[in-house]
Amino acid sequence: MNKPNLNTQSVLSMKGEGYYSQKTVGAKNAIDKMEVLIEEAFKNIPKVDKLRIADFGSADGGTSQEMWFNIIEKIKKSGDNREIEMLYTDLASNDFSVLFRMMQGMQGNDNFAYQNKFENVFVHGCGTGFHKQLMSNNSLSLGFSATAMHYVSERPCLINNHVHMVGSNEKEKKQFKNQALKDWETILLNRSNELVPGGRFICINFGIDEKGRYLGNTGGHNMFNNFTKHWKNLEQNGIITNEEFVNATFTQHYRTVEEFRKPFDDPNSEISKSGLILKRCETMFTDCPFKVHYNKNKSTMSSREYAETLIPTMRSWSETVFKTALEKRNPNEVNQIVDQFYNAYLEEVTENPSGHAMDYIHIVMDIEKKIN
Ligand SMILES: C[S@@+](CC[C@H](N)C(=O)[O-])C[C@H]1O[C@@H](n2cnc3c(N)ncnc32)[C@H](O)[C@@H]1O
Repeated sequence: MNKPNLNTQSVLSMKGEGYYSQKTVGAKNAIDKMEVLIEEAFKNIPKVDKLRIADFGSADGGTSQEMWFNIIEKIKKSGDNREIEMLYTDLASNDFSVLFRMMQGMQGNDNFAYQNKFENVFVHGCGTGFHKQLMSNNSLSLGFSATAMHYVSERPCLINNHVHMVGSNEKEKKQFKNQALKDWETILLNRSNELVPGGRFICINFGIDEKGRYLGNTGGHNMFNNFTKHWKNLEQNGIITNEEFVNATFTQHYRTVEEFRKPFDDPNSEISKSGLILKRCETMFTDCPFKVHYNKNKSTMSSREYAETLIPTMRSWSETVFKTALEKRNPNEVNQIVDQFYNAYLEEVTENPSGHAMDYIHIVMDIEKKIN
């Protein structure tokens, strides 16, 4: 049995230098759908002196930038002239320099560089993980998080015959489930401390919906099974070792709606006692934008061109897992093997693109901290 590597921080980060937000239009589309809910929430959050907003697990900030621009514009236009403090949080390994450049209009689309466009908006970064309390008590009006809290704080075990808990055996799955439940409670208790009474925490997390669907598994091919197949092929061809195969275990758990609801459904849980209530919990499907584009343009677009858009979006968030699994090798070799891995997937999609896509399944939650 391999010894679990508990130091997972380096395995989590997205590809840097703005690559993440350029390749993840789908994540942005999912975030943009939250604008109405957030706008509504602001109407009901008590008006404390300073308005503090936090975006937990923001990566380079690019995917949520337009939404925050729109929200801040609406707040300002409503005549609410309070100072706004915007706190972006992610792991210490995150590429915060891109984030700061984007918000100041030095990179990306400067139309949404809201720090330049509006008075009294202060952008901060926090490089401590969201399993800890990140702000002082009762100081956060609205917390938001997108597509981030499926990352568990540590891998409870390595998965022997798959790369993700969705394909693990029952024993492994149970360990991931327990870890994820513990983490979810910790996340919620810390948000509860941070929120002002009446404040809101709105999050959209990857999870498993009522039809058993999850990211990259919405009816056609199963993306995580494909990752496993191509990774296993490298082992079978003697290119990677079995230890390296097993080491590529995603530090993620896809919770079901029931798992997300659990701490709220028990009136005696620490979460309920802390004053948090779940106002809304539902599943959300977001189409893979590359699939949509390809379906619209099949007459002029080749299957290779489709594969060349789809595989980079998968690569933007998964690459570090495979690279880290090969950490004992020299960097050139690592790059070569990882290129070979994604190229094999790319060839498969090119050969027959039917059923290949990365549709998103999120669990949307609107959580409120009760006013005593
Ligand atoms: C898939 S990206 C999502 C980025 C962005 N929120 C979006 O929806 O496009 C997940 C982000 O969560 C971050 N993350 C993972 N674990 C974290 C933790 N414990 N604390 C803070 N951020 C974390 C990763 O570093 C990464 O930037």
